[in-house]
Amino acid sequence: MKTLSNRITNLPVSSIRKLIPLADEAKKQGTIIYHLNMGQPDVKSPEVMIDALKSWNQNPISYAPSGGTPEYLSALEQYYHGLGFQFISIQNIIGTIAGSEAINMAMFATCDPGDEILVFEPYYSSYQTSAQLWGVNLVPIQTDITQGFHLPDRDTIESQITPKTKALLYSSPGNPTGTVYTSDEVKLLKDIVKKHNLYIIADEVYREYAFIDRPHVSLLEFMQEIPDQAILIDSLSKRYNLCGARLGCLVSLNTELLKSALKFAMSRLSGGLIDQHIGAQLTKVPETYIEEIQEEYRLRRDLMYKGLQSIPGVTVSLPEGAFYIMAELPVEDAEAFCIWLLEEYRDNNETVMMAPGYGFYKNPEAGKKQVRIAYVLEKPKLQRTIEILTKALRAYKNLEN
Ligand SMILES: Cc1ncc(COP(=O)(O)O)c(C=O)c1O
Repeated sequence: MKTLSNRITNLPVSSIRKLIPLADEAKKQGTIIYHLNMGQPDVKSPEVMIDALKSWNQNPISYAPSGGTPEYLSALEQYYHGLGFQFISIQNIIGTIAGSEAINMAMFATCDPGDEILVFEPYYSSYQTSAQLWGVNLVPIQTDITQGFHLPDRDTIESQITPKTKALLYSSPGNPTGTVYTSDEVKLLKDIVKKHNLYIIADEVYREYAFIDRPHVSLLEFMQEIPDQAILIDSLSKRYNLCGARLGCLVSLNTELLKSALKFAMSRLSGGLIDQHIGAQLTKVPETYIEEIQEEYRLRRDLMYKGLQSIPGVTVSLPEGAFYIMAELPVEDAEAFCIWLLEEYRDNNETVMMAPGYGFYKNPEAGKKQVRIAYVLEKPKLQRTIEILTKALRAYKNLEN
């Protein structure tokens, strides 16, 4: 047998998914597990989208145009117009197989192997996987839990730029931090890429989930100033609780880039035709749908933040958006603690599953004591997870000593 490629062998396994076999084993033994480990919302998809799925009557189910169906693209166009960005037209949008493909597309279209992309650490772990797929080096710039994971100063960011730097990539609201960059921060990033002639890739898949007094600031606000450099990554997964429909897009004003990205889209022929039909209903989703979810997540965020703060030795900063909290735990190795929770610890036959923080760092040591918590459970369940974690950390401390 020939060996498998080094590049596939070297791809990291997501720290989020790695513990799943342990959870499965615990469930087999009858243990109830509260899943705080995955960003899979527990909220229902919009009724109008489910109805569109039920009434599907096109036979055969054909390919869709590689860059997206006209009805899906025009629904996205309307969505951006609704946000106030009238300059976006369907020509600026490529429909993708969710945000994940848009990230791959953006990296592939902008970088050659050996090129570098700046990211703010901790960052969404799939950025690393995508970068490795294309031979791109992610260059992490540290942010700090005590500063709410906000950006470091301009000099610190600029000091990481080399002749190989092609792009700067960020998510706001952020996964795993929940941080929402201020207008000044987004402007700073825009100024830096403008000065150094870099691409800027903004991942705004959590755009609607910002729980702050100031508005969320989109890269779209600056897109016309840097039309050839700005790339937006978007997704319907979280906004409409459609994670399994695989719907997203890449938005840019750079026609050369769009033309090239379309070649990437053509390589997989088509996105899902039925998925896009579902996605095209987004303009019919009542505003109250998102508003109710926003309110629910805000309450959950408050509950988790206060709950985690009340546990001795735990450090958290108030997340401003998305549905994640990074917490630093009073343990030597947070992954070992997560494994212990799944393998050994039970409170009334219940336990908690979290994502070890190291998976969100290029240097795993930096996130060794941290976990990412996704508050995608109903409030009474979240309350119970705080109770379990409090007791578990006490018991673990005794074991460590
Ligand atoms: C920051 C961020 N970007 C992109 C994605 C990709 O999601 P999808 O491929 O479902 O759009 C995720 C998923 O968790 C995410 O957290």
